[in-house]
Amino acid sequence: MSRPVLIAPSILPADFSRLGEECLALQEAGVDRIHWDIMDGVFVPNLTVGPDVVASIRPLLSIDFEAHLMVVDPDLLAPLYIEAGCSTILVHAEACTHLHKTLATIKDLGATPAVALNPHTPPEAISQVRDLLGLVLVMTVNPGFGGQTYISEMESKVVRVAEMLEGYDCDIEVDGGIGPSTIAAAAAAGANVFVSGSALFRDPEGLAHATGDLRQRAEEARN
Ligand code: DX5
Ligand code: ZN
Repeated sequence: MSRPVLIAPSILPADFSRLGEECLALQEAGVDRIHWDIMDGVFVPNLTVGPDVVASIRPLLSIDFEAHLMVVDPDLLAPLYIEAGCSTILVHAEACTHLHKTLATIKDLGATPAVALNPHTPPEAISQVRDLLGLVLVMTVNPGFGGQTYISEMESKVVRVAEMLEGYDCDIEVDGGIGPSTIAAAAAAGANVFVSGSALFRDPEGLAHATGDLRQRAEEARN
């Protein structure tokens, strides 16, 4: 059975002075889960929100939270974001000395383990941890900032990851530059979870239109 299309907006473009309202608006617009871009200023040259911010928003929404940990020490921070209410934790393969152990610990803590691959990282990085994974994120930009240009060369990596995940119960996510002009190609390559920040927030017809439009484009491309 084909995996469902899920829309996971990044909070980066949100108005941080009204973050709770913005997240509620995303939920009302019909998104499937919130993609928290967590940056430590070292793994990437940008700094975002701590677990206390996520925890303060958690009780306002019913949909899932996923934490994209763009951090040098995911073993230290993953438990804090699980405690804050994130049910999926994405760690970067590039930041993990012991990726298998890191993912197993996330699973033991009751969250879904996920691995994110930077554009330079080969898909084979997941080959020995597939049985632990609920989600693989193929970055379609170099991490750190929203509003960047989609790297279409990553589509062949999505195809390869999809081949590697045949028979595994694991979603494939893309993140970076995902919008109306790029989502279909990423979906056709094999992605079923789509992070969108700028494109979703910038839609002149609003969040609900953007969410529905992205979902429709992805579903049509996957059929
Ligand atoms: C980049 C983040 C992405 C990014 C997506 O490091 O992981 O989630 O904010 O934003 P857009 O959709 O604007 O590329
Ligand atoms: Zn992200």
